[in-house]
Amino acid sequence: MLTWLRFNNSLFLANQNTPMLTPNFTPFPVLTTDRLVLRRMTRDDIHELFRLRSDKRVNHYLIRAPYQSVEDANAFITKTDTAIPNNEFIIWGITLKDENKVIGTICIWNLKREHDRAEVGYELYPDYWRKGIMQEALTAILDYGFNTMKLHSIAAIIDPFNQGSYSLLEKNHFVKEAHFKEDYFHDGKFKDTVIYSLLSPK
Ligand SMILES: CC(C)(COP(=O)(O)OP(=O)(O)OC[C@H]1O[C@@H](n2cnc3c(N)ncnc32)[C@H](O)[C@@H]1OP(=O)(O)O)[C@@H](O)C(=O)NCCC(=O)NCCS
Repeated sequence: MLTWLRFNNSLFLANQNTPMLTPNFTPFPVLTTDRLVLRRMTRDDIHELFRLRSDKRVNHYLIRAPYQSVEDANAFITKTDTAIPNNEFIIWGITLKDENKVIGTICIWNLKREHDRAEVGYELYPDYWRKGIMQEALTAILDYGFNTMKLHSIAAIIDPFNQGSYSLLEKNHFVKEAHFKEDYFHDGKFKDTVIYSLLSPK
């Protein structure tokens, strides 16, 4: 029998067997790896976040508009202050163990609760590229997504020219599942998108 389920003010039509992701990001899950601490970002991080999200190299393949001022970073932290306690999405600031400074971010967002599915997103300041940092962060987030959140699948939607990103995903056994031709307009051009996905190992 179908019945309506409510979660965070959204209604879902479900039957007894329908998956229903119920993440809980409180208390905020601080994750540690060999070299990194993945922690919640606060207003103390807005200058680093602005530096990251205004950098042309970081934004090159992203749909997001580059940040214009520190106020954009401040507005984003305000958004997380509501979204994280409401379990809408989660984003970690990536820091090195011996420095508290945010050098990148990694998130689980676009939660599709009735499908136990979500999307991963990540970005790192260029000074730290090619040192295995995102590999380390992604390994921790995949473990959190599959084992703590109990996701069934994790997707990543990327620009097909973003070699760093697709190589990172393929290294982590994500499979390319779709290539959409010119399905979005950004920066004066129609562009392609590619969907990668990874199923829970269980
Ligand atoms: C994509 C990105 C996160 C990679 O981070 P990183 O810390 O440099 O990646 P790592 O050093 O952990 O590399 C892990 C694997 O990813 C792949 N990789 C990363 N950067 C690569 C590059 N420039 N070219 C080819 N492969 C790359 C490799 O397979 C690498 O494994 P290897 O070192 O054994 O060859 C980083 O380049 C970045 O922040 N880019 C800008 C933001 C962005 O595009 N985000 C993705 C949005 S979908």
